[in-house]
Amino acid sequence: MTTILVTGGTGTLGRLVVECLRADGAEVRVLSRHSRPYAVDLREGTGLDAAVEGVDTVVHCASTPRGGDDRAAGHLIGAARRAGVRHLVYVSIVGVDRVPLGYYRTKLAVEEMIEGSGLGWTVLRATQFHDLVVEVLRNAARLPVMPLPAGVADQPIEVAEVAARLAELAAGEPAGRVPDMGGPEVLPFRELARTYLRAIGQHRRLLDVPLAGKAYRGFRAGGHLTPERAVGTVTFEEFSPSASLRAPDARPTRASTGP
Ligand SMILES: NC(=O)c1ccc[n+]([C@@H]2O[C@H](COP(=O)([O-])OP(=O)(O)OC[C@H]3O[C@@H](n4cnc5c(N)ncnc54)[C@H](OP(=O)(O)O)[C@@H]3O)[C@@H](O)[C@H]2O)c1
Repeated sequence: MTTILVTGGTGTLGRLVVECLRADGAEVRVLSRHSRPYAVDLREGTGLDAAVEGVDTVVHCASTPRGGDDRAAGHLIGAARRAGVRHLVYVSIVGVDRVPLGYYRTKLAVEEMIEGSGLGWTVLRATQFHDLVVEVLRNAARLPVMPLPAGVADQPIEVAEVAARLAELAAGEPAGRVPDMGGPEVLPFRELARTYLRAIGQHRRLLDVPLAGKAYRGFRAGGHLTPERAVGTVTFEEFSPSASLRAPDARPTRASTGP
């Protein structure tokens, strides 16, 4: 039986990847800072060799947007090489090479480390998950007037579709950089906000806020979008009714992971 290690296997994406792989009959190990017996902080690397021993494939979904993903990748690559891992699959973000956001720059550096690692590798870039867009909108809706990034659109995708694709890639041979995965529609933030507010049955005045800086210019230019790869099928409107079921403070806030 194939043994697969999923880093970040407790996260929004990782837990669905784990489900897909187990449904396909793989032996799956889950690694995160808090999941025993493979509780490892990848930025430190302690305990990583034991987690990777005997593993055929690693699906790397763990990420700490506050920093250290490059250090974490260095430890993971080193351990994978020592253990003779055959295939390292990494999930990245569409536009990491076009939008100069700090988090994106780090993800691009990690892509390059993986490409030069000497391991068999596959990199899939995806657009923002519906969940992240809902989180951004939920935070904005805490105010009576809802601030939105002026002139920015997004192309959110259903995370389960990304998880299924990653599981498929993990079961295959190393494929290098595979075609990007984008959600089915590119929508201005105003429209996403209206859909979200309808779903939770609330009203807010919307306020377009022009932001400064190169990263914002990159988002406004659509560097994080891939309309030619709109392969996701679940629209934000189809997803967003589930947003009303979540309590406003049910999930932690993620810092600066994109629009
Ligand atoms: N969210 C999006 O819209 C989106 C879009 C495209 C690509 N991606 C990429 O998809 C990946 C997963 O994103 P996500 O939204 O599922 O993230 P998430 O929900 O925040 O989950 C992150 C996972 O990583 C683990 N983790 C964090 N820091 C770690 C560390 N230092 N060492 C070991 N484990 C660590 C977390 O568990 P513990 O807290 O227990 O450590 C958790 O299991 C990321 O690489 C992200 O860049 C995300």
